[in-house]
Amino acid sequence: MAVLLLLFLIAVAVAADEEAFIGINIGTAITDMPSPTQIVALLKAQNIQHVRLYDADHAMLLALARTRIGVTISVPNEQILAIGQSNATAANWVSRNVVAHVPATNITSIAVGSEVLTTLPNAGPVLVSALTFIHSALVAANLDQQIKVSTPHSSSIILDSFPPSQAFFNRTWDPVMVPLLEFLQSTGSFLMLNVYPYYDYILANGAIPLDYALFRPLPPNKEAVDGNTLLHYTNVFDAVVDAAYFAMSYLNFTNIPILVTESGWPSKGSSSESDATLDNANTYNSNLVKHVLNNTGTPKHPGVAVSSYIYELYNEDLRQGPVSEKNWGLFYPNGEPVYVLHLTGAGTVLANDTTNQTFCVAKNNADIKMLQAALDWACGPGKVDCSVLLQGQPCYEPNNVVSHATYAFNAYYQKMDKSSGTCDFKGVAIITTTDPSHGSCVFPGRGGKNRTSTNGTSLAPSSNSTSSGYSSKYSQNGIGVIRDPWKGDLQLQMEDCCKSQFCFSSY
Ligand SMILES: *[C@@H]1O[C@H](CO)[C@@H](O)[C@H](O)[C@H]1NC(C)=O
Ligand SMILES: *[C@@H]1O[C@H](CO)[C@@H](O)[C@H](O)[C@H]1NC(C)=O
Ligand SMILES: *[C@@H]1O[C@H](CO)[C@@H](O)[C@H](O)[C@H]1NC(C)=O
Ligand SMILES: *[C@@H]1O[C@H](CO)[C@@H](O)[C@H](O)[C@H]1NC(C)=O
Ligand SMILES: *[C@@H]1O[C@H](CO)[C@@H](O)[C@H](O)[C@H]1NC(C)=O
Ligand SMILES: *[C@@H]1O[C@H](CO)[C@@H](O)[C@H](O)[C@H]1NC(C)=O
Ligand SMILES: *[C@@H]1O[C@H](CO)[C@@H](O)[C@H](O)[C@H]1NC(C)=O
Ligand SMILES: *[C@@H]1O[C@H](CO)[C@@H](O)[C@H](O)[C@H]1NC(C)=O
Ligand SMILES: *[C@@H]1O[C@H](CO)[C@@H](O)[C@H](O)[C@H]1NC(C)=O
Ligand SMILES: *[C@@H]1O[C@H](CO)[C@@H](O)[C@H](O)[C@H]1NC(C)=O
Repeated sequence: MAVLLLLFLIAVAVAADEEAFIGINIGTAITDMPSPTQIVALLKAQNIQHVRLYDADHAMLLALARTRIGVTISVPNEQILAIGQSNATAANWVSRNVVAHVPATNITSIAVGSEVLTTLPNAGPVLVSALTFIHSALVAANLDQQIKVSTPHSSSIILDSFPPSQAFFNRTWDPVMVPLLEFLQSTGSFLMLNVYPYYDYILANGAIPLDYALFRPLPPNKEAVDGNTLLHYTNVFDAVVDAAYFAMSYLNFTNIPILVTESGWPSKGSSSESDATLDNANTYNSNLVKHVLNNTGTPKHPGVAVSSYIYELYNEDLRQGPVSEKNWGLFYPNGEPVYVLHLTGAGTVLANDTTNQTFCVAKNNADIKMLQAALDWACGPGKVDCSVLLQGQPCYEPNNVVSHATYAFNAYYQKMDKSSGTCDFKGVAIITTTDPSHGSCVFPGRGGKNRTSTNGTSLAPSSNSTSSGYSSKYSQNGIGVIRDPWKGDLQLQMEDCCKSQFCFSSY
């Protein structure tokens, strides 16, 4: 008994000791596809240590040689039928695409197909044979210990995934899933799973809060609780991964780790895809990286590594489908970032981490009068230098309250060192990770740049709050109204008025 318990503890410790990593998928449906050398240069500059290819491109594998980057190569779906029906074809594939490249190229795993059960169901019956044949060839080449074989699944094969404890694999596929899980268990491999909270959120039609999909903090009463296990779920990602653990344990497999082969969020979409935004994409991917690298694990298996590959390195302009389909990348094909992840404290992945890049902006749908009042306050008593908003200055255009308020709110927020509560302005301001700078109007707070132009408070207007000529333009009469719920309205000079939380500008 004691021995058994000890073994159990060791097994748990081993699983929990594994360090989770972040990798990145490299899709190639791109008009101006960068060369393998350019791709590898970007990977190195960004300190990306793990990649997944959707094929086993010879030139790409050569470019990755001697980089130490861990590479997952793939058997494309159209080759599954041939490989799953012929041991010799599988052996040939391994010899050309694996044996020819190792050890110079650090191939760590082979993904056999991509979402085969949901996209190519007629290959389902030979899927496990394909994995088994590839694995035998690796055994023959004495590479099976360093190279794992698995097959990425769409999370849509998991049914009833909330609460996670009731999840199970679509039973249609049990004849494939059971031998597949036996294979993964006996070869020490992992279940490969694509996890897309973006689609879960979209398909839920409002039933899933955006914050829950984006790993943003939820009030405790909004957290999802699994009534059977009493586990609390603070994000969709964990719930889906746990649903997969439960679906496996439903089939009596309890010790197969999960590797998330794809996860991400599109940064742009059509007018009907309003949640595909830069801000949401940056928030999701930044939070995903932090969540994974923190080794948080999931509520069911806390501390157990769930390594994940971000989908994806480049925007792929040639992909079919809605606008969002072409906009999952972190980079444009020329290597420029689509957005810069904010990864404070998340370690060394994605090197151009400018960290703490947050900005304060006016809410889109905020009441214009409230915005105006807050703008007046920021440029007046708030002592923000609003001179760049004057006609002829870099931030004058677009000349409207929302964009001027955005500049002023952000300048105030940065001036206050982003301390908590300084991006609120009575609820009309919100923190964003997207740099609102445009043209020559560079906002304070952009990673290190234009630092000097904020120059602490020395650039703030003197106590003569009209000295910038700005606030007088907006604060027409300099009079504010305190709407004190107990004492009624009280007119005051704006500066005094604004010391009260009930101050509104009068018009
Ligand atoms: C191969 O990649 C894995 C994962 O990054 C790493 O742990 C290992 O050290 C690499 N091996 C070599 C020989 O570079
Ligand atoms: C398949 O080929 C491998 C060598 O690549 C061999 O070890 C194995 O026995 C073969 N299996 C079958 C079922 O023929
Ligand atoms: C289960 O899989 C089968 C075969 O792909 C599919 O026809 C069916 O709709 C799936 N069931 C559910 C509930 O999604
Ligand atoms: C799982 O194990 C239990 C207990 O050994 C058994 O009753 C059940 O039939 C098994 N389920 C499957 C799907 O094999
Ligand atoms: C990091 O992990 C610890 C426990 O291991 C947890 O308390 C903390 O909330 C996690 N932080 C994030 C950002 O997930
Ligand atoms: C990332 O950093 C490298 C080296 O510091 C630099 O050469 C490169 O231009 C940066 N890339 C971006 C997109 O900022
Ligand atoms: C980033 O922000 C966090 C919390 O606001 C702070 O603790 C940390 O020191 C900041 N790091 C840098 C490099 O400014
Ligand atoms: C920021 O600096 C750039 C040059 O480095 C300058 O062109 C721009 O006007 C500056 N922006 C502001 C708001 O000071
Ligand atoms: C920043 O402030 C110092 C001292 O207050 C001043 O000498 C310097 O000129 C200022 N820099 C800029 C760019 O305004
Ligand atoms: C305050 O600003 C006004 C308008 O620019 C100016 O006429 C006045 O002299 C300034 N007063 C002081 C004390 O700087």
